[in-house]
Amino acid sequence: MALFDFFDGGKKAQLLNGKEIAERIKGEIKREVGELKKEGITPGLAVVLVGNDPASKTYVNMKSKACKEVGIFSLVHRLPQSIRTDDLIEVIKTLNNSPKIHGILVQLPLPKHIETSRVLEAIAVEKDVDGFHPYNMGKLVEGLEGFVPCTPLGVVELLDRYQLSVKGKDVCIVGASNIVGKPMWGLLVNRFATVDICHIYTRDLREHTRRADILIVGVGKAGLITEDMVKDGAVVIDIGINRKGDRLVGDVDFDRVARKASYITPVPGGVGPMTIAMLLKNTLRATKLIHKVAE
Ligand code: GUN
Repeated sequence: MALFDFFDGGKKAQLLNGKEIAERIKGEIKREVGELKKEGITPGLAVVLVGNDPASKTYVNMKSKACKEVGIFSLVHRLPQSIRTDDLIEVIKTLNNSPKIHGILVQLPLPKHIETSRVLEAIAVEKDVDGFHPYNMGKLVEGLEGFVPCTPLGVVELLDRYQLSVKGKDVCIVGASNIVGKPMWGLLVNRFATVDICHIYTRDLREHTRRADILIVGVGKAGLITEDMVKDGAVVIDIGINRKGDRLVGDVDFDRVARKASYITPVPGGVGPMTIAMLLKNTLRATKLIHKVAE
């Protein structure tokens, strides 16, 4: 026991081990991919990477490596920073029509001159494994079956696997992005949580976070959530990934908040691996839907 643990009675949150759960899910997916291959079907994911953003490059490499691990065919389209919106849309149309491809992912953010919404709307809804097409976003809000963005889906899957119900709970989401915060809100409201969503213009962030039974943070600002902003016994989900020297840290002051929370995700090894596992799961699901294989 560390000296610090001794002074505060050793109280420490249980880790929500996304890495371990993601490995288990990947094992399940690998078995299912094996079954599909026996029927002559190989799931295929196309990842479109525009430009040279180092973080995007890293994420794309991680996604394509994960595909290989489970036997999903993956194709990375590396396109120049200078590409025009219309030309990018042509690439997507080709992928929409490719029988080898069941899932299409355009890594975000795109360069500023590109009209992101037109690009996302060009993706065939049945291949939209990132769930960013407005059709799938609408399905999510209505609580109907569609493709759900991978990070919020990974959070819900992680909570499920630890049998942490959100029904009737006060949840605070910090960060209102289209990729994380907004779809996270939809998933949780459909599961009957009471959801508060905070953003850069929220007047008193602490006032909101302190009330939360479940606090979900995805902003990209190291140290944003300090101990005094967290309710005793809260479940804390950290989606942020920030570089601090040669370390990766989340948005939550992990060491101190872990002494107050009941459960907490580490960074790395929390939500990140779950996001990738959900991408594989969505790709497998898209393949089954396209080939009309029962789920
Ligand atoms: N950029 C940051 N997160 C994501 C994600 O989940 N999908 C895509 N396509 N781009 C991202």
